Amino acid sequence: MNLQKEIESILKKSLGKMGMDGNVSVSFSNRPELCDYQSNSCFAMSKQLHKAPLELASEIVANIPANRKYDFSAEKPGFINVKVKDSYLAKKGDELLLDEMVGVEKHKKSKRIIMDYGGANVAKELHVGHLRSPIIGESLNRLHTLFGDNVTSDAHLGDWGLQMGLTIAQLMEDGVLDYYFKKKGKEPVITLDMLNEAYPKANKRKSVEPEFKEKAAEFTLRIQRKESPYYDAYKKIREVSVAQIKKNYEELNAHFDLFLGESDAEPYISKAIDIFKKKGLAHESEGALIVDVAREGENILSDKLDKDGKPYLLNPMPPVILKKSNGADVYATTDIATVLMRNKEKGVDEIIYVTDNRQGSHFERFFRACKLAGISPEKQKLTHIVFGTINGKDGKPFKTRSGETIKLADIINILIEKASEKLKSNGLKPSRELALQIGVGAMKFGDLSNTVAKDYIFDIDKFLSFEGKTGPYLQYTVARINSILAKTDCEGGAIKIYSEDERKIILAIMKLISAYQLCYDDNSLNMLCSATYELASAFSTFYNNHRILSEKNLNKKRAYISICKLVRRALVQALGVLAIDVPEKM
Ligand code: ARG
Repeated sequence: MNLQKEIESILKKSLGKMGMDGNVSVSFSNRPELCDYQSNSCFAMSKQLHKAPLELASEIVANIPANRKYDFSAEKPGFINVKVKDSYLAKKGDELLLDEMVGVEKHKKSKRIIMDYGGANVAKELHVGHLRSPIIGESLNRLHTLFGDNVTSDAHLGDWGLQMGLTIAQLMEDGVLDYYFKKKGKEPVITLDMLNEAYPKANKRKSVEPEFKEKAAEFTLRIQRKESPYYDAYKKIREVSVAQIKKNYEELNAHFDLFLGESDAEPYISKAIDIFKKKGLAHESEGALIVDVAREGENILSDKLDKDGKPYLLNPMPPVILKKSNGADVYATTDIATVLMRNKEKGVDEIIYVTDNRQGSHFERFFRACKLAGISPEKQKLTHIVFGTINGKDGKPFKTRSGETIKLADIINILIEKASEKLKSNGLKPSRELALQIGVGAMKFGDLSNTVAKDYIFDIDKFLSFEGKTGPYLQYTVARINSILAKTDCEGGAIKIYSEDERKIILAIMKLISAYQLCYDDNSLNMLCSATYELASAFSTFYNNHRILSEKNLNKKRAYISICKLVRRALVQALGVLAIDVPEKM
C-alpha cells in the first residue's frame, strides 16, 4: 500500500490537465506538524516549464478535482503540501489490519537468489567476527522472501582449508587419533573441547615450527584427496564441529536451508579448472595455477617508487590462484567451484555473499574469474555485501580483557546473563529462553540499526535498555499490546481518527511500508529499524494519552482495540524480518 504513488499520480494528472508533463515525486513530510507528504518537484520543473515554483504549485493544486482522500496546498516558495484526510487514513488503517502483509506488496517478478551468510570454519570456534554475517544475512533473506523472492540460504562452512590439516596434525601428536592412524584402541570420542584446544595450539605452532606447518599442509592435501585415514579423521572432526556451529546459529535465530561446506564443491573443482584451461584463461606461475583478472589499465606500474625503491602498482589486482604449487586447493578454488555447483540449477538470478570488509579483494577477483570463464552466466548478479567491525567501547575491535578474540558462544552467554539481570531488576523471573530472546534481540537490533558497512560499538548495556531505540523496547511494546488485548473481550471495530495520535500511528505504518522497499533496494536494514522504532514510539504516545480498556464509548474502544491489533501486526512483521523473537510476555 503506497499512498506516495497515489499522490504522485494525482499530481501528474493535474499537470496533464494543464497540458504539461513532468517528473512529480512525493516524499514523507519533513515538517509533520504541517503536512503528511510533500512534493518538492515544482522547483526542478519550474525551469523546464518556465513558471515560478510557487505559481506552478498553485496551478497544480487548483487543477486537482475535489476528492475525499487528500487536502493539497501550495506553500512558499513552491512546495505542495499534502494532508491525508482523517476518514481516508482510517479506511487505510482498516485495510491494513485485514492485509496479510500489513501493506507490503510482493514484487511482480520474483527473483531466484542464493544467499551465503554463514562462513563458520570447521574445527575453529566461532568468534565475534562471525557474528554479523548470520545476523545481516538472515534478515536480508527474510526481507527478500517477504517481497516474494525465492531464496535458498547456504551456510558455506569453511571446511577445506589448512585448519583441517593443522587440527589433525595436533590431535595426532596428542595421541587422540591412534584409532585412525595406528589402528589401535577404540574409535575416539572427539569432543569440542579437544578441538577448541587443538586448533589454537596448532595455529601458534605453525608460525614457529616450519616442519609442523609443512606436515599440516601435507595433511590438508591428503584430506583434499580424500585419502584414508586422514579423510576419515577429518569427517569425524567435521561432524563434531558442525553440531556446535548449528547450535550457535540457532541461538542467533539464523536458519540455513543448506548446510554445505567448501568441501561439497570438491566434485566441481576439476570441472571448473577444465573450463579455465579450455578457454585459455589459466596459466602456471611459480608452480601454481593462476587466472589473471586485472583489467586494462589496472596493475599498471607507477613511475613513482615506494620506500624500498621499487615501483608500486597504481591499481593492484592480483591474480586468482586456482591451485597452489603443491596442488592444494585454496579459498578461491572452492568459491569458484561453489559458483559452478550453484549454477547446476538453471535460472539463479543472484548470489549474495555477506562477509566482513577485509574480504573485498577476494570476492572482486573470484567474481571476475567466474564471469571470464562463464561459470557465472552473464545475466547473473554476484553481490558481495561487506560489513564493518564490531568494536569495544575503546573503539578498537572487540576483544576479551586479556586481549583475545571473543568466542561467539561466550558472547551469547554474556547476552543471556545481562538480559537475565535486566529482567530480574524489572521484577521478572526470566527463563533461559526468555533471556536468550531478549539478549540476542537486543544485540541484533543494535547491530542492524547501523549501516551495514559501518563499524559499530558493542555496548550491551545500551542495547539492552528498555527505553529508546532498542530491541527490548520493541519487544516490550508488543508484550504490552498482548497484555492489553488479553484483558478484554472487545473484538475491535472500524478504525476512526479521534486524535493526532492515531494519525501518527497509521502514518508511521506507511513509513514502515516504504522502509522495507528502501532496505531491499539498498541491501540494508537500518531504515527498517528506525521505522519500526518510530511506530513503537507513536504507539507509546497513543497508549499514554488514552485509557484503552476503560473507554466508555464503545465505538471508540473498538477503534482503539483495532489500532492495538494493527500496531502489533506491523511490529511483529518487522521484527520477524529482523529475525528478532517476540516473547509473548515480558
Ligand atoms: N569461512 C570464511 C571465513 O571465515 C567465510 C566464508 C564466506 N563465504 C564465502 N563463500 N567465501 O572467512
